[in-house]
Amino acid sequence: MTVIMDGKSCADKIIEKIKSEVVQYDKKPTLAVILIGNNHASSIYVANKQKKADYIGFNSILINLPYDVSENNLLEQIYKLNDNPDVNAILVQLPLPKTINQQKILEAIDPIKDVDCFTSYNFGWLALGYNPYVVPCTPKGIIRLTDEYKIDLEGKNIIVIGRSNIVGKPLSLLLEQRNATVTVAHSKTKNLTALSSSQDIVISAVGIPDFITTEYIKEGAVVIDVGINRTDKGITGDVKFDEVKDKASFITPVPKGIGPMTIAMLMENTLELFKIQHSFIN
Ligand code: GUN
Repeated sequence: MTVIMDGKSCADKIIEKIKSEVVQYDKKPTLAVILIGNNHASSIYVANKQKKADYIGFNSILINLPYDVSENNLLEQIYKLNDNPDVNAILVQLPLPKTINQQKILEAIDPIKDVDCFTSYNFGWLALGYNPYVVPCTPKGIIRLTDEYKIDLEGKNIIVIGRSNIVGKPLSLLLEQRNATVTVAHSKTKNLTALSSSQDIVISAVGIPDFITTEYIKEGAVVIDVGINRTDKGITGDVKFDEVKDKASFITPVPKGIGPMTIAMLMENTLELFKIQHSFIN
């Protein structure tokens, strides 16, 4: 019997735990989100993040800048948030317009407020196996969900398909820290079907609907779908769920899989940064 991994209920439990913890502090943790332009998908993601922050009892600040905002203006906004002691976490929603140098913008975030772990300071610490202030939300959410289902990662052969800075790269580091044997595949990988179908765990973050079919999956493998693709049929993942689910031992659905876990980890990271800044821990 295949287990459908319920990211929504796992995320809800985490959210309730954070909510009950937050009431004991006299200050509210504050998450500031910078959104450039009015990209439909980004606007929905940001609205969902803010709704969850409000529900928990965090302060949430939205800074929505026009698509043609200058790099200097954007940097000014980040410096202001860095200097504001009431702001604990800063998130710059990606992707940025092509005219803006992403590296310059993300590096401007104070590492102690870097809720995504996007600065080279935090990412470097992650890569070296030290503890960054917080670890990236989606990879953290994937590992938390496998923990919830008691899936042991140690010694497992795991393929991560996609090498983005947001998911693939940091996820491969975190899995390696759990003593998994990790392969990172990408658009130039040869014989992906053969490679993937030999793996114990397949994690897809490619952003192509129905990309992962049964040929990519070994009988009894764990399948984690990180894709959020907007199609005529609504939101779908990267995995052809209906056929792959019969071959997998565990599989995440889309929606209600990794998506809600990412938001829950963003809330957890906001709380962790708040606690670090107020010296409740460390
Ligand atoms: N765009 C898509 N996913 C993410 C994320 O996890 N963080 C940020 N900042 N932008 C994103």
